[in-house]
Amino acid sequence: MSQLASPITLTARERLLNALLGRPVDRVPVWLMRQAGRYLPEYQAVRKNYDFLQLCKTPSAAAEVSIQPIEIIGSDAVIIFNDIMLPLEAAGADVEFTEKGPRINNPVRSFEALSALRSTPIREDEPIVRTIQTVRERVGPDFPVLGFIGAPWTLATYWVEGAGSRNFERILGLRWSNPEVLDALLEIVTQVALDYLRIQIAAGANAVQIFDTWGSILRDADYERFSARWTRRIIESVRGMGAPVIFYMNGSAPYLPTLDTLGADCVSMDWRVSLSAARAALKTPASLQGNLDPLTLYSNPEAIDAAVADIFRDFPPRPGHVFNLGHGILQHTPVRNAQSLVEAVKRHGAC
Ligand code: CP3
Repeated sequence: MSQLASPITLTARERLLNALLGRPVDRVPVWLMRQAGRYLPEYQAVRKNYDFLQLCKTPSAAAEVSIQPIEIIGSDAVIIFNDIMLPLEAAGADVEFTEKGPRINNPVRSFEALSALRSTPIREDEPIVRTIQTVRERVGPDFPVLGFIGAPWTLATYWVEGAGSRNFERILGLRWSNPEVLDALLEIVTQVALDYLRIQIAAGANAVQIFDTWGSILRDADYERFSARWTRRIIESVRGMGAPVIFYMNGSAPYLPTLDTLGADCVSMDWRVSLSAARAALKTPASLQGNLDPLTLYSNPEAIDAAVADIFRDFPPRPGHVFNLGHGILQHTPVRNAQSLVEAVKRHGAC
C-alpha cells in the first residue's frame, strides 16, 4: 500500500504468505483454483498416459502437472495435483473416476454400511508426500506450494450420494431420517481429512485450502452442526503447524457469520458477492481470496482486464487479498485468457 515508505522485495512465497496473513506485500498474488487441469493441452498430454486416480498417485507425473500452470500461465503459487476424494480410500471408500466425475461404489446410508467399512490409517508415505517433495525440489524453497482437502461435509456428501448429485436427496434425506449416521460418518471423514492435511504440511505445503464445495446445500441453521464444527476441528488441529488455512465454500454469502467463527486465515469467496461486502460481513480472517467469475475467462483479454480492474475498484489492492477465481477454472477456458488474467492482476495489483 502507498503507506509503505520503501519498496519491499519479496519472494513469491513471502508474497503469498504475507497476503494470506494480512501483512505487507508489493502486489496482490494470484493463482487459480483447478489451475492444473484439462484446459491445458500439456495436462492432457500427461493425462492420456494415466487414468485420473493413477495420475494422482504417481508423484513424478503429479508433480509435473502441478507445476505446468506456473510455467504456462505465470501463476504465483503451485497447488498440488491431487483430489479431495483420495483420503476417503483409506477410510474404506471404493472410489472411481468416470467421465461424469467421482463415484463411490460403496455409498454409506446406514450404520450397517458404516460398520462394513474396512479402513487403514493414512500413511506417512502416501504418494502425495512424494509429490510435494518433488514439486519442492523443482520450484525451490522460495515458491509457495499449497496443499488441500475437502471439508468433511463435502466429502460426506459424495460418500452418501455415491456421486455428484442434482438434488442431494440421499444426504439431505438422511439428515432428517437418521442424522446419527451422518454424525458418525462425519467423524470418520474428519479424521482422514485431517491426517491427509497433516502429512501435506509436514511434507512442505506452505498453506492449505479446505474446499466445502457442497456446504451451501445445507440450511443455514444446520451448517454449524453438519459442516462448520468439523471444519473448525481440522483448523484447530493444524493451527501452529505453520501453514495458513484458506477456507472456500461455493455460495457462502448467507453463511458468512458462521464462517467468521471457523478460525481460517483466509476466506475464499465465489463471484456472487463483492469482496467489499464480504469484508464488511467478516471480522476475523486476515484476508480474502477470490472472486472473479470463472466464465469471465470465456471472453477475451480486454474484457478480462476490465473485470480485474472492476474487482480492484471495489476492493483496492492491499495486504490481505489473494486474487483467484470464484470457483475452479472451466475446462473450455482458452489458455491465452488464463494468461491474460494473471497478467492483468500483475498489472493492476500493485500495493
Ligand atoms: O486445483 C488444482 O489444480 C489441483 C487439483 C484439484 C483437482 N480437484 C484435480 C481434478 C483440486 C484442488 C480438486 C478439488 C476438488 N475435487 C473439488 C473441490 C473444488 C471444487 O471444484 O469445488 C471437488 C468437488 C473435487 C471432486 C472432483 N474431482 C470432481 C467433481 C471432478 C469431476 C469434475 C471435473 O472437473 O472433471 C473431479 C476430477 C478432477 N479433479 C479433475 C482434475 C484436474 C479432472 C479429471 C480429468 O483429468 O479427467
